[in-house]
Amino acid sequence: MDKVRAGVIGYGNMGTSHCKWIHDGIIPGMELSAVCDIDSAKIDAAKKNFGDDVRYFADYKAMIDSGSVDAVIIAVPHYFHPEMAIYALEKGVHAMVEKPAGVYTKQVKEMNAVAAKHPDLVFAMMFNQRTNPLYIKIKEILDSGRIGEIRKVTWIITSWWRTQKYYDSSSWRATWAGEGGGVLMNQAPHQLDLLQWLTGMPTMIRAYLKYGSHRKIDVEDDVTAYFEYPNGANGTLVTCTHDAAGTDRLEIQGENGKIIVEDSSKVTVKILRKSETELSETLDFRQMLALVKGQSGEKLYDEESFAIPENWDKQHIDVLINFADAILNGACLIAPGKEGVKAVEIADAMYLSSWLGKEITLPIDDDLFYDELQKKVEEEKSRENI
Ligand SMILES: NC(=O)c1ccc[n+]([C@@H]2O[C@H](COP(=O)([O-])OP(=O)(O)OC[C@H]3O[C@@H](n4cnc5c(N)ncnc54)[C@H](O)[C@@H]3O)[C@@H](O)[C@H]2O)c1
Repeated sequence: MDKVRAGVIGYGNMGTSHCKWIHDGIIPGMELSAVCDIDSAKIDAAKKNFGDDVRYFADYKAMIDSGSVDAVIIAVPHYFHPEMAIYALEKGVHAMVEKPAGVYTKQVKEMNAVAAKHPDLVFAMMFNQRTNPLYIKIKEILDSGRIGEIRKVTWIITSWWRTQKYYDSSSWRATWAGEGGGVLMNQAPHQLDLLQWLTGMPTMIRAYLKYGSHRKIDVEDDVTAYFEYPNGANGTLVTCTHDAAGTDRLEIQGENGKIIVEDSSKVTVKILRKSETELSETLDFRQMLALVKGQSGEKLYDEESFAIPENWDKQHIDVLINFADAILNGACLIAPGKEGVKAVEIADAMYLSSWLGKEITLPIDDDLFYDELQKKVEEEKSRENI
């Protein structure tokens, strides 16, 4: 195969970008061969842009069965992700899944099991933040051990501002039946994946969720979560979609230093001259204050900072380039499909914790989560029928 013939499923906000990038020829080794959307108006819009260069489908199975695609990029509402990826993989077609991998772990694990049966096929996630050079650099710093063993992780990510008009723009948005959740399913999966990619999976989560906070929606748009790691470190994640002047600040504190990321574009790294453990065991209160205030003649830490502006388009384009490279040349995936379950599991644990009012240990009970989610879907249906 010289060129991967790609079919994009879903010609909405995200799918239009994927189609454009591929059609414009900026993904080496990949061409746009088909577009699928159940909405005929979307198909008409795609036809205006791509004319006879590509084939158009209303049914994703027909597109996959047509023989016109070697790979699909799935950019539709979340519940469909596993179902479509499973169909593609079983038909010998490579699959890239937009975030999140799915809504509930049980469904995502089924997708992973099918993918495992087809190791010859490339199965990837669109976790575009993993190509952000800023987070790549932070991962390098963490993996190098420079800040030592992680003690505390704090992420305030309230910059996911979404208006009521945004929620009203599409019937699947912000519903249990259509989207499977709110900020944890749609916006924060980027941070949930980065969190586990950078610092590993937590073992326990206690979360407080607010549903329809300052918005007329059923799902959560305000989250405060506490979590613990296997080494005893802990963390918090605070996110919401109703803060017009939102904050994006990540702090990762280790025994030997700290990384601070502001607005996903500015990084400060502080490396302690002596480990915090050693300082704690050797300094009395007066010596500690003198060191902190710079009165001891010694420096507490060395500091470096760098800024890398976010480039949203490039992040996605780089994941697509990697996907094509993996299909054509066997390149290692930046975001293997099987890793998508991790962010879903963290989100699902946060829901379970809120619904059941208790700490949740990971791995979660997949069946329990599925049953509890169905209750939310049923409650939503009964409210709509009133
Ligand atoms: N990686 C990112 O930065 C990013 C950004 C935005 C959205 N997304 C993800 O992309 C996906 C789509 O989000 P969006 O904002 O583009 O939504 P959207 O509503 O704008 O588009 C979804 C499209 O899918 C179509 N569709 C729905 N069901 C379908 C089906 N069964 N078969 C074919 N087409 C179907 C709809 O008609 C619509 O055109 C979601 O998973 C979302 O989380 C990712």
